[in-house]
Amino acid sequence: MKALTVVPRQRGTAALADVDEPPQADGEVLVETVAVGICGTDAEILSGAYGWPPPGRDRLVLGHESLGRVLEAPPGAPVAPGDLVVGIVRRPDPVPCPNCAVGEWDFCRNGQYTERGIKAHDGYLSERYRITPDFVVKVDPSLGELGVLLEPTSVVAKAWEQVERIGSRAHWAPTTAVVTGAGPVGLLAALLAVQRGLEVHVIDQMERGRKPDLVRALGAHYHTGTIEDACPSPDAIIECTGVGSLVFDAIEHVGPGGVVCLTGVSSGGRPIDVDAGSLNRSMVLENESVVGSVNANRRHYEAGAAALAKADRGWLERLITRRVPLAEWSTALDREPDDVKVVVEVGR
Ligand code: BGC
Repeated sequence: MKALTVVPRQRGTAALADVDEPPQADGEVLVETVAVGICGTDAEILSGAYGWPPPGRDRLVLGHESLGRVLEAPPGAPVAPGDLVVGIVRRPDPVPCPNCAVGEWDFCRNGQYTERGIKAHDGYLSERYRITPDFVVKVDPSLGELGVLLEPTSVVAKAWEQVERIGSRAHWAPTTAVVTGAGPVGLLAALLAVQRGLEVHVIDQMERGRKPDLVRALGAHYHTGTIEDACPSPDAIIECTGVGSLVFDAIEHVGPGGVVCLTGVSSGGRPIDVDAGSLNRSMVLENESVVGSVNANRRHYEAGAAALAKADRGWLERLITRRVPLAEWSTALDREPDDVKVVVEVGR
């Protein structure tokens, strides 16, 4: 079968290769891949900056934002042939650490977790894959190919869970949220904020086009300026850009008792001046919190699947701005200004 493979940490090594059928040892559920979304992490792996091959191998099968159709499942499994499913990305570390031991692998303590398509475990960008029943999540059949949005939605479902858990350390009745960045993660974070009944403000750079339209279609407000101008003192800020100056703006401008959740991964190497003293002062005197959030466990996939199931299909459809066939996978990386989510279509 065909698979997109790459030698991690070596630029220019990606190749559509013929690989063996997935081994039975990977799990009793056999899935045919329908589509795989491409994100910044994939671009980083393809550029040679990130990723780990499976032990004893040079090449990693790429792809972690998956959607597939079950071909085979054992009796009693939570999925059956024909179901549309998404594979969970992370696997617990083998020790396991106390968090992995209870299914909270997204909070792995020892860093020995693996991630399909990213860290030491083949991904989903192959015609078929195998998986154990406990790492596959069913999506609402009416979503069809839009189910490919579940993995990034699971990431923002976790982010919102963190915000709510921290917020509810005291009385918590949020009314306003700011999301920085109107890429796929930012837009999905805004969708989940609107579903929570919040007044939502999204900040990005594009003056016009699909991103502002998508934000407004949610009933949220779109801005190109600063957080302070968009919404002074929001209850929560979901930072989805990883841009250093925005991270500190978020911390400075979140409201009293508010929570800033950082989901963007910065590349580093761009120092900025920060008045640490005044930041400290406002964080302490206003009980503000900053939390980093990565990855997602099964609970977050299930929350994400529920959020997508109740979202407007037309709106979700507009998030997928390009679909490229597997044979033309490399064009998925050509960023066009209005692109939101680009998916590689593997099968039908
Ligand atoms: C994925 C996460 C993963 C993270 C770090 C992200 O792109 O969505 O599941 O944990 O990269 O590898």
